[in-house]
Amino acid sequence: MKTEEYMKGKTLVISGATRGIGKAILYRFAEFGVNIAFTYNKNEEEAKKITDDVSVKYNIKAKYYPLNVLEPEQYIDLFKQIDEDFDRVDFFISNAIIYGRSVVGGFAPFMRLKQKGLNNIYTATVLAFVVGAQEATKRMKEVGGGAIISLSSTGNLVYMPNYAGHGNSKSAVETMVKYAATELGEFGIRVNAVSGGPIDTDALRAFPDYDEVKAKVEKQSPLRKMGNPEDLAGAAFFLCDKTQSGWLTGQTIVIDGGTTFQ
Ligand SMILES: NC(=O)c1ccc[n+]([C@@H]2O[C@H](COP(=O)([O-])OP(=O)(O)OC[C@H]3O[C@@H](n4cnc5c(N)ncnc54)[C@H](OP(=O)(O)O)[C@@H]3O)[C@@H](O)[C@H]2O)c1
Repeated sequence: MKTEEYMKGKTLVISGATRGIGKAILYRFAEFGVNIAFTYNKNEEEAKKITDDVSVKYNIKAKYYPLNVLEPEQYIDLFKQIDEDFDRVDFFISNAIIYGRSVVGGFAPFMRLKQKGLNNIYTATVLAFVVGAQEATKRMKEVGGGAIISLSSTGNLVYMPNYAGHGNSKSAVETMVKYAATELGEFGIRVNAVSGGPIDTDALRAFPDYDEVKAKVEKQSPLRKMGNPEDLAGAAFFLCDKTQSGWLTGQTIVIDGGTTFQ
């Protein structure tokens, strides 16, 4: 079967697709006729704009829903709403990330790490993945399988200032991915992670040392450029496309412009 045929009419559920990497992934799937249920946190206006745009451009069904990944149980009601709006769930991508006030004590040098900030990052990264993936799995079983992805980052492979909280939660979610993959394979569900090096998005621009990170990455990467959201969207799409990656599960694909070997 060809990719186009396999993808058309399926449904992707993705968190945090108003901007950055999530938005790029959303467009990548929409182009192939995949219906989209996606979440926003604050940017409802942008969510509406995206919905209108992809519905018209690609003739698909798209709907947006509020979600706060600091309260992962919200996924339970969210999926109930999705059940009413969509006839199936085939792919789930845990992408949303927190920043600002909620990461105080989590996004910090080691000696300033605090329980609350670290717990918040763990909740948003690992617990949100777990609850979202559990709800998605119940629906995927009904349609004979599917694919689940967590976004990760190479801040768990190489040192990044202030990134200890995020880096160790990304390690944790990559391990959770392997456990989920091992237990869900029998239902035809594949589970993987897409790990990115520094990608030019709002999340990275919020780093106090953004300019230094950018300059360093451009120097470090053999490709002499920083990554952009589309650089990760292709891998997420590939991992959901059973015609291309049908025996690929429990893995992390690293897309880092060659930076982690430098
Ligand atoms: N940027 C990088 O360098 C990089 C590299 C590797 C991996 N990643 C990973 O890729 C993923 C996306 O990152 P990004 O850089 O694309 O982020 P981004 O551009 O900052 O977008 C963040 C998204 O998360 C949503 N969000 C924010 N707070 C939320 C909350 N409390 N609950 C639910 N959703 C919330 C935002 O929604 P609103 O717009 O509605 O607020 C937005 O859609 C993350 O998992 C990140 O760790 C990023």
